[in-house]
Amino acid sequence: MNAAIRILMCPPDLYDVDYVINPWMEGNVHKSSKERAAQQWQQLKTLIAERATVDLVPPAAGWPDLVFTANAGLVLGDRAVLSRFYHPERQGEEPHFKAWFEGNGFTVYELPPDLPFEGAGDALLDRQGRWLWAGYGFRSELDSHPLLAEWLDMEVVSLRLMDRRFYHLDTCFCPLTDGYLLYYPPAFDTYSNRTIEMRVPPAKRIAIEEADAVQFACNAVNLEHTVILNQASPALKQRLQECGFTVVETPLTEFLKAGGAAKCLTLRVTEPVQPKPAETVSVLSRVVDLSGHLLDSGVMNRALDAVVECGGSFQVLDFKLGVQKQSTSHAKLKVSGPSPEIIESILSRLIEIGALLPEVKDARLEPVVQDGVAPDDFYVTTIYPTEVRVNGQWLRCQRQRMDGAIALRADGAGQLTATCKLLRDLEVGEQVVVGIDGIRTLHKGEGRDKSPKEEFSFMGSGVSSERRVELVVEQIAWELRQVRDRGGKTVVTAGPVVVHTGGAQHLAYLIREGYVQALLGGNAIAVHDLEQAMMGTSLGVDMTRGVPVSGGHRHHLKVINTVRRYGSIAAVVEKGLVPSGIFYECVGRNVPFSLAGSIRDDGPLPDTEMNLVAAQGRYAELLQGADMILMLSSMLHSIGVGNMTPAGVKMVCVDINPAVVTKLADRGSIESVGVVTDVGLFLSLLVKQLEKLTAPIPLAAH
Ligand code: ARG
Repeated sequence: MNAAIRILMCPPDLYDVDYVINPWMEGNVHKSSKERAAQQWQQLKTLIAERATVDLVPPAAGWPDLVFTANAGLVLGDRAVLSRFYHPERQGEEPHFKAWFEGNGFTVYELPPDLPFEGAGDALLDRQGRWLWAGYGFRSELDSHPLLAEWLDMEVVSLRLMDRRFYHLDTCFCPLTDGYLLYYPPAFDTYSNRTIEMRVPPAKRIAIEEADAVQFACNAVNLEHTVILNQASPALKQRLQECGFTVVETPLTEFLKAGGAAKCLTLRVTEPVQPKPAETVSVLSRVVDLSGHLLDSGVMNRALDAVVECGGSFQVLDFKLGVQKQSTSHAKLKVSGPSPEIIESILSRLIEIGALLPEVKDARLEPVVQDGVAPDDFYVTTIYPTEVRVNGQWLRCQRQRMDGAIALRADGAGQLTATCKLLRDLEVGEQVVVGIDGIRTLHKGEGRDKSPKEEFSFMGSGVSSERRVELVVEQIAWELRQVRDRGGKTVVTAGPVVVHTGGAQHLAYLIREGYVQALLGGNAIAVHDLEQAMMGTSLGVDMTRGVPVSGGHRHHLKVINTVRRYGSIAAVVEKGLVPSGIFYECVGRNVPFSLAGSIRDDGPLPDTEMNLVAAQGRYAELLQGADMILMLSSMLHSIGVGNMTPAGVKMVCVDINPAVVTKLADRGSIESVGVVTDVGLFLSLLVKQLEKLTAPIPLAAH
């Protein structure tokens, strides 16, 4: 018995499950037994009273969850930070707990309204008093943590809760005597797990299984070397014993129905202040501005989601809603994150969405000190047009693409240029943008002023399936025609499925009619197209009858051999050995193509570039200035092309596999559209549609 430890409890006379504010309460409204609750609570109190002093706060009518005194507030020394409940259902408990704290000599700190924090339910002291573990994600807001650090003069380590069942930190996390930690790792995000692992050595971590977690094993009252809890598996009991703890089980089933157990029913009000290094807060905040059609275009949602997904929290400091259809809205957000890394990842997501940092600074630059390697912390580019601020001037990046770094270089006249470069292309002597300051991305077309005829916006980032295919094809045909007739550039990336599904003749038509300005593919599309043109089969299958031809499996190798003999696809075409097909048209119409090799290529054809770095370079070259890209059933080539392509280029991705289409269509830019269908069918519909179009616009000569 250690009378110096004081524990606050509240008799359950008025306890019940009256409402649902956590998943445990679902289906349990008025289902707990009064008698059993009273008896279970009494038994817990007796067990605690054998080891510490129990103080009581009286129950209050209308506030059934008042029994969960862990949520009264957070105590350290003679200071108490009063809870600010998230749910209105519990907000009426605040004055009762406040009165108790004041009546017992505590200095009470109160959070501003709208900044929820649920006391010792979400904030647990390291048992050696070195820091405070603080949870956020469900009930407590991350922005409360800096105030805790300031008021209690203590380091706060923020942990993000991910599982609705474990909505309070004390439902899945319990620091124990001697630096042990009882916890359920899946309740936290990856970053938080890493934080925990960095602070608690492996021998001190007692990670529990789900079966124990749902019995609230982490919701334990730890008094010196005793651990009092609802229930623990034999394995967990053994582990705790090996660590020097005596485990006492006491049933608390009636309180589990409200989502609480032993620890929730108690608040340790004697928490000695330990001498420690100066206060540190790791929660950082930055303010960002957003403007545009924030609501109609979904930008606001995306921005707020991005903050939360990255593990941060936000406060909307200001919001001016554009009052008319064409007027734009403006928002000022304060975003907070538990560490500099998280703040940076949040800010780069927001910059990608178009946010501006109001304190305009120049971009931070660091030199390349090794060819092909960027400085740590380099800014990773996106598909959106990007500008960097250098010496107070905004510079537009050249060759925008995603997943690159921004390299700055001065020409002979001292003129600076900023270029998106792949890591491998960086050269010593260049400066690379690091961090997130002095960077902005430009977003056009996210407004509501584009007519569907000008943009694909009506199917914006949508994935169309069967019924909508014809409608989509009509639009694409119209667009293709536009691009061709104004002398624009359409690039096609295609896989061999185009040939297997009977689409070769249609793609050949598009090339012949001047709709295609460059073709990107791999070894296979060329091999199968030539096999079909030269031998009438595709991978040995007769394309007119749909049956395998005997010995047909050797056809494609013979084709490869022939092309190798003449030295190139162009040479066999010129020799007259290829009467028709995709590559026949490319050669005849001087449409450049690039074939990128892979590990599984037969041959390869002499035209196939087996040096992938060179192939990527050639792809990027052919993609320069593209207005539209048709991606036809070739996942890897299409994804590669997508990465090289800036926002603003219309992308049409056709694949029978919805996953491929979704991946490509979902670039967050309205110009991409996905079509889930058979590519041969798609091409035949497209050609029919093009033939049907009697253009009002005179055809350009070609
Ligand atoms: N019904 C209460 C709520 O949802 C249970 C509180 C449990 N307390 C705790 N510290 N985990 O708020």
